[in-house]
Amino acid sequence: MSFAAVTPAARQPTTRTLTAGPVGARFPGAGQPAGGAAAARTGDDLLGLFPPGTALDGEGTLLIGGVPVTELAETYGTPALLVDEGALRARARRYADGLAARWPNSRVAFASKAFPCSAVYRVLAEEGLGIDVAGGGELALALAAGADPAGLVVHGNAKTEEELRLAVGAGAGLVVVDGFDDIDRLERIVAEVPGRAQGVLVRVTPDIRPDTHAAVATGQAGSKFGLPLPQAREAIARLRGSDRLRLDGVHAHVGSQITDLSPFARAVEALAELGEFAVYDLGGGLGARYTYADRPPSVEHYLDTLVETAGMVLPAGARILIEPGRSMVAEAGVSLYRVVTVKPDVQPVVAVDGGMGDNLEVSLYGQRFEATVATRVGGGGRCRLVGRHCESGDVLSAGVPLRDPRPGDLVAVPATGAYTYALSNNYNGARRPPVVFCRDGGHRAVVRRESYEDLMRRDLP
Ligand code: LLP
Repeated sequence: MSFAAVTPAARQPTTRTLTAGPVGARFPGAGQPAGGAAAARTGDDLLGLFPPGTALDGEGTLLIGGVPVTELAETYGTPALLVDEGALRARARRYADGLAARWPNSRVAFASKAFPCSAVYRVLAEEGLGIDVAGGGELALALAAGADPAGLVVHGNAKTEEELRLAVGAGAGLVVVDGFDDIDRLERIVAEVPGRAQGVLVRVTPDIRPDTHAAVATGQAGSKFGLPLPQAREAIARLRGSDRLRLDGVHAHVGSQITDLSPFARAVEALAELGEFAVYDLGGGLGARYTYADRPPSVEHYLDTLVETAGMVLPAGARILIEPGRSMVAEAGVSLYRVVTVKPDVQPVVAVDGGMGDNLEVSLYGQRFEATVATRVGGGGRCRLVGRHCESGDVLSAGVPLRDPRPGDLVAVPATGAYTYALSNNYNGARRPPVVFCRDGGHRAVVRRESYEDLMRRDLP
């Protein structure tokens, strides 16, 4: 992989995340009351939300993966989704090594819906992860990126015949059966391929409702995903009698952005009640840190909980799979915008050149993000950071301290690696932003910005 040439002089961070020292001296304006309920934050606090290793250069400009964001904005324009490739790889290793150390017969499969871009698939496959795909599109992306089909876990509550054919045809290691229609279809499809057996898991809805946004809770009774325990037992019995489908085990995923570990432990216990299997897929769902107030459990704490519970209730020889999405990629991503206009108000309204076209998390789930002027990090008065789209709900952060924001300034929003690219859209003819990998002071676009021509590409005369 090639990286753009770098100018070493520009790559010397003079300050580091969470280092000691007189904060006010390095972040003039930091520490002033920001207004509103939250305490004012220092630049050091703020850097802690960015990818590990994020720093400031001598002029106080944010460096992502060692690259000044000013250089990135000049090269790729704004808005842009920046990914610290080193941070992404480190996170993948932390997950994979952490699980392997605790339960050697195990595998981490990246829930690729969180960031379905070829380069991300490639990097995580290179780091040895399996890939969870939801449907044919993600399956095609994973295969194109060179993922080993045997490590694919194929999901979907409404998999079409075509998608199941793609999965079986590609040699996907596991198809997660979400209901009886999946079983019917798969039996038919696999019967057409002489000698082929397909490994399957049964997705179970254990009636566990974690404390998270209703739209991303999936394990509760009445969920559209999986089968409640009695029906899961029926599906298991049926699959045990199948000569085409090989029942490898069971799966549960109870929701996303979960910051209390007890629902994960209860899900393992629920799976154990279904009996002994070769494979237990414990899903994903660990929460990411978006704001100062968020204190999600560490990967290690999360793995401890899963494996301690597994040690008590699952067969010792079983294989454990997990499927983290959000917590794998959120922290590695940073959205970079340029301020277009500032309107004075009690809280100045700072409008940037992106918004709900590239980040739907706020509108859909009320997710809160922090932000900073990228050349004056930390401090400042509370502002309303809004997007360019024709909707009042198009807000990036409803009240965030920004130091003296002016038109032309760059604004960076941390922790945007998960589900932003995935849910990006063309509302108001927005061209979806590029994805730029930064690493060791070099950078490369892995997805280009959409063009106006792209917007018309599928339109027929
Ligand atoms: N496994 C399965 C079967 C899933 O359905 C999901 C997420 C995951 C794993 C990964 O969960 P994570 O570790 O990312 O929490 N569109 C929403 C997120 C929906 C998550 C759906 N399933 C958002 O933008 O926040």
